[in-house]
Amino acid sequence: MSSAIGVGILGVGTVGQGVVRILADSAELLEQRVGQPIKVVAAAVRDLDKKRDYLPDGVALTTDPMEVLTNPLVDVVFEAMGGIEPAKSLILKALRLGKHVVTANKALLADHGTEIFEAARLAERAVCFEAAVAGGIPIIQALNVGLAANRILSISAILNGTCNFILTAMTRDGKAYGDVLKEAQSLGYAEADPTMDVDGTDTAHKLAVLVQIAFGQTVSTEQVSRRGIDRLEAADIRFAGELGYVIKLLAKARWRPDGLELRVSPTLVPKGSQLAEISDSYNAVRVEGSAVGDTLFAGRGAGMMPTASAMVSDLIGILIEPRSRIRAAAELWKPFAGAPRLINIDEHRTRAYLRFQIPDRPGQLAHLARILGDNGISIASVIQHEPETLASSEVVYVSLIIMTHLATKGAMRRALEHIQKTCELNGEPILLEVDARAGQPN
Ligand code: NAP
Ligand code: HSE
Repeated sequence: MSSAIGVGILGVGTVGQGVVRILADSAELLEQRVGQPIKVVAAAVRDLDKKRDYLPDGVALTTDPMEVLTNPLVDVVFEAMGGIEPAKSLILKALRLGKHVVTANKALLADHGTEIFEAARLAERAVCFEAAVAGGIPIIQALNVGLAANRILSISAILNGTCNFILTAMTRDGKAYGDVLKEAQSLGYAEADPTMDVDGTDTAHKLAVLVQIAFGQTVSTEQVSRRGIDRLEAADIRFAGELGYVIKLLAKARWRPDGLELRVSPTLVPKGSQLAEISDSYNAVRVEGSAVGDTLFAGRGAGMMPTASAMVSDLIGILIEPRSRIRAAAELWKPFAGAPRLINIDEHRTRAYLRFQIPDRPGQLAHLARILGDNGISIASVIQHEPETLASSEVVYVSLIIMTHLATKGAMRRALEHIQKTCELNGEPILLEVDARAGQPN
């Protein structure tokens, strides 16, 4: 029998345990695929006493990650601990020690990819990260290899399993935001700090990684305009439903002749469209290529086994095609010649859903409509319900929903500022983006 490939694991939490489980359960199949047995030889955690359902067989856990890196039997290091430090220093050290690295850490790649891939180039080792974006969906390989003949024109994606799980349960089952977030945490979907999921940061990390590969543009998380679902109100989910839409947290990258639009925002997606049908912890990535046209990749975007599936596939890639994986790591994080500039958010064009709580009295709707018109924003449709209760002397407010045609975000910002100054609104106006229906421009 050939000598075993040695694996070292940094972090045996949700994802690390999934890796251990696949390597144990599919040992025979994996050995057939790579021609050698694969063995977990060392693993590091923070707390040795924590109960783990899947533990590396016969492997003593350590709290010192350096013991994993310096173990001479370790050929490939899996980083599944998360966070920036010590993960970054450990990956750099592993590369300097001549180990290949597999990581699921999108936060680290998004803001420190340049340093990590430069170290990989110098060490002539691979850094693979299929699990960092869209969980079990092989989108990194698809963009790197499968769609390599194309200039990528646009990406629209649901990239956070926790948010999609929450939005699905709120929309379909009318569940409360806080209850479903707890459920997502207990299922192992959420980040250690779930704020990163719900405020759009995790989606921005993943979009930054996709943009590097698809457009050759290195962007930091801070450069991605983002908004999450943490301030989304159940009323908007309900009104969107009435209008024939569901709300999804979408990451968008769109190539224009004058640059690249990038943003993460809760977006109304037409019911029955492909992205609207993506539910629970599933993710989907719609990629438009210059030659292939529209493609859609969908699958489970978070959780133990889908994420581990992507990490183990990286290991197999490194073992069966090491030269191409080393070359890819050396080339990946460099800008393409002529990488596009980022377009300021005020210049982004979108349709919008606007909701105002306005006093129920004559002239209010006309006043709002005039301000929108003065800013070049054309109204596509309007709904206003009659007030549910007729108050006596107090002001009665009603919800007014306005759907607009395409306009720039800057025009919308200016119009909303003017409306807030001149109308007696109850609360802040709500603006959500709207994805086009089939046949409409977006
Ligand atoms: P997790 O369940 O919190 O596991 C983290 C593991 O790392 C734990 O075993 C923890 O030890 C260990 N660890 C943390 N800091 C350490 C340190 N300084 N020294 C030694 N061990 C340390 O997290 P996870 O959900 O598996 O996520 C891991 C990574 O995968 C993150 O980068 C995350 O963004 C990414 N990811 C997660 C998912 C998902 O669905 N969960 C999907 C895609 C990508 P203890 O167990 O002793 O605390
Ligand atoms: N917390 C992430 C999510 C894990 O919910 O999508 C997968 O990257």
